[in-house]
Amino acid sequence: MATTTMEVETVAGMPRHARLERWVDEIAEMCKPKRIHWCDGSKEEYDTLVRLLVLIGTAMPLNPEKRPNSYLVRSDPADVARVEDQTFICSRSKEGAGPTNNWEDPEKMKTTLRGLFNGCMAGRTMYVIPYSLGPIGSHIAKIGVEITDSPYVAASMHIMSRVGVHVLDVLGGEGEFVRGLHSIGSPLAPNQPNKPWNCDAEHKYISHFPEDREIWSYGSGYGGNALLAKKCHALRIASVQARDEGWMAEHMLILKMISPQGQAKYMTGAFPSACGKTNLSMLIPTIPGWKVETIGDDIAWMKFGPDGRLYAINPEYGFFGVAPGTSMKSNANAMLSVTKNAIFTNCAMTWDGDVWWEGMTEERPPKVVDWLRRTWNPQSGRPAAHPNARFTAAASQCPSIAPEWEDPKGVPIDAIMFGGRRAGIVPLVTEAFNWQHGTFLGATVSSETTAAITGKVGQLRRDPMAMLAFCGYNMGDYFSHWLKIGKRPGAKLPKIFYINWFRQDQSGKFLWPGFGENSRVLKWIFERCDGKVHAKETPIGRIPEVADLDTSGLNMQTAHVEQLLSVDVDGWLAELPRIREHFAHFGAQLPEGLSSEAKALEERLLAAKP
Ligand code: OXD
Ligand code: MN
Repeated sequence: MATTTMEVETVAGMPRHARLERWVDEIAEMCKPKRIHWCDGSKEEYDTLVRLLVLIGTAMPLNPEKRPNSYLVRSDPADVARVEDQTFICSRSKEGAGPTNNWEDPEKMKTTLRGLFNGCMAGRTMYVIPYSLGPIGSHIAKIGVEITDSPYVAASMHIMSRVGVHVLDVLGGEGEFVRGLHSIGSPLAPNQPNKPWNCDAEHKYISHFPEDREIWSYGSGYGGNALLAKKCHALRIASVQARDEGWMAEHMLILKMISPQGQAKYMTGAFPSACGKTNLSMLIPTIPGWKVETIGDDIAWMKFGPDGRLYAINPEYGFFGVAPGTSMKSNANAMLSVTKNAIFTNCAMTWDGDVWWEGMTEERPPKVVDWLRRTWNPQSGRPAAHPNARFTAAASQCPSIAPEWEDPKGVPIDAIMFGGRRAGIVPLVTEAFNWQHGTFLGATVSSETTAAITGKVGQLRRDPMAMLAFCGYNMGDYFSHWLKIGKRPGAKLPKIFYINWFRQDQSGKFLWPGFGENSRVLKWIFERCDGKVHAKETPIGRIPEVADLDTSGLNMQTAHVEQLLSVDVDGWLAELPRIREHFAHFGAQLPEGLSSEAKALEERLLAAKP
């Protein structure tokens, strides 16, 4: 236990882990906090954390009659989102990080960071948070420990991960864990007033040391920068662990679809931001008798079971979802998940003490206080909630959560979906010919950006497997890892599909109605897994014909369905140079399997040209 003279609050009966205690001592010596608190994960601890957040002005309790036990936090405008420019993969070699990541030499980065972390927790409490990613004791789960000086992070971690003393029980005296060090970078001098939100806007570093299984995050208190279990561990570090150990850590939702006959299938799906991943994971089908249940909305870890199938767990324990656009129409299950025990960040506050955001209601409220604490009305000409405002709520509160969502074995995956937002050429759904072709579809995932992301509407961004910002190593090697998974002897692999809900007609109108109607596409995927429904072979993959897709009761014009399912050979031939340009970024690291898929696609397209 810490040998310094500072006050240390430990957990009664906590098992001793010499390496963990030594690390905590070293960090305390460097960061010089006033107090160390080992988190036990109890409800009392959560209540104390949120009470503290209210007392220091970080959080505001919402009206308990509207939203019991819920809080609104408003951050600093300089700290509102993940900072990809300041996110680093500090592998020993630059090539280890690859062309899609920022790289810095690990020793150089540690020198910079040690300078920043030196004394950075003065006047603050240092929380030590042991967490399990995945059901405690699951053979797919992993353990991490986050050290942070932010009580907002500690409270959010209670919701987002399985936290506390039972994790230390599993860790025992020798267990392996990922080390995550986080500071908001705002030491407090004696008598210096504390601010409601603290950060070091000028010096943000979200640094990963994959070979050492370490994360050092400095300067930001927001979301993925600060809740290190999420993007930093469950994706960036875990993708490296997965490569080394022969499993998969993916930026994917996990859903369960149940047929009217009660048969269940499990699907995962990777879609770039702004493509409705959380909504799809909580979808309410419009087709009679079908049901969708949720296992996870953001991250899937998949490992082979003894039967050769891939089993997935959701490593997370809660949802950290984008609030704007979420409504009873777009995602009733998300809305119902946040009716109580939730933390909201950068939403607007209504006059009767509830939260509001753009798109939550059809009518905008006459007046609210916006996320920057200014009075706002619909004529204000600016959003009331920040576009990246978030809700944080336990997954167990989701009405559509599957009863087996915490099964330590995981759920056997039948189908993997990729998708993006494309106005043209990409059909509503395409089935890959095989795993290698599916990997090609994943590696070429592309999405047209929306105004909310870049301000440049319609720009095409390649986001392979939706992992562009989250792969902790060279993405060319990541593609090879995918291909290697497909060659595992005895593997019974999921089928792979590519989806595009966003195809438009000539006048720019969406051809597909979306929302709950997406269940019709899931139904086709479900039945393809059993070989029960027809598909047409095309140069780009297998596609349903109009009669294969259940459109009963939709009142869609056949011509529109035909357009959604059509293959634009010339459009795809024009796409090929763009795919090759994208692949060229990976140089020698691009596996041959992917360049040969590009060639095979070209040959099939040329053969199909009239
Ligand atoms: C997220 C993201 O917040 O992908 O989940 O950015
Ligand atoms: Mn995500």
